[in-house]
Amino acid sequence: MKIIFLGAPGAGKGTQAAAVSRELGIPTISTGNLIREAIANGTPVGLMAKDIIAKGQLLSDDVVVGIVREKLKTVQSGYILDGFPRTVAQAEALEKMGEDVDTVINIYVPDEVIVKRSAGRRFCPKCGATYHVQYNPPRNDNGTLLCAECGSKVAVRDDDKEDVVRHRLEVYHEQTQPLEVFYEKRGKLRTVIGQEEVADTTALTLKAVKGN
Ligand code: AP5
Repeated sequence: MKIIFLGAPGAGKGTQAAAVSRELGIPTISTGNLIREAIANGTPVGLMAKDIIAKGQLLSDDVVVGIVREKLKTVQSGYILDGFPRTVAQAEALEKMGEDVDTVINIYVPDEVIVKRSAGRRFCPKCGATYHVQYNPPRNDNGTLLCAECGSKVAVRDDDKEDVVRHRLEVYHEQTQPLEVFYEKRGKLRTVIGQEEVADTTALTLKAVKGN
């Protein structure tokens, strides 16, 4: 299956993509994780992206489309795209690559809930796993918070400060939300209302993915 996860920053795309990836055995391609990896490795893309991400803005379509095009060459069959496309131009570029996705899962969470959630988010700089101090806690080793997947120390993302989160939400409503209409017209959009419990959202997401 080829699946896209849409939704505001912090709506739970990465969390649900990980659950669906485990269930269906297909890889997740997260543009956010790929860009953070490039920043950590100090690559030319990473050096250019650092300030843009910290301000909550989007990278240019050309750069991100290039990253995804290269990554898709390494994928055998199905995939989950998390955080891509994020503009109509990116969605059109994906179609031009000949990629016909099966379904687009749109996770809806109100902005004010997202602002609160982002404050508690922790991520693993090594493997990209996402946690929340209250809803999905990392491993607590005598007060040190560790990734349950790879054991590395988890960290706070630079773009999770409240003012940056609010700006990312504005960018989302302006540049990404038009994709709901784009995929609705193609009969591919399924909206999942994000729940307070991660497991409840996962159950609804899996139902939507399987077309129930
Ligand atoms: P990216 O990393 O993709 O960020 P995002 O889309 O803003 O999404 P997030 O990762 O913030 O949130 P999420 O929806 O995955 O939620 P999560 O599962 O973590 O991109 C970062 C930046 O990279 C962008 O701002 C941009 O600059 C650049 N970029 C990336 N892609 C790009 C593109 N295509 N074009 C241009 N630029 C691009 O959940 C959030 C928190 O809530 C977590 O702590 C989680 O544990 C918790 N949580 C999740 N679900 C629940 C629940 N049901 N109940 C309670 N807590 C929950």
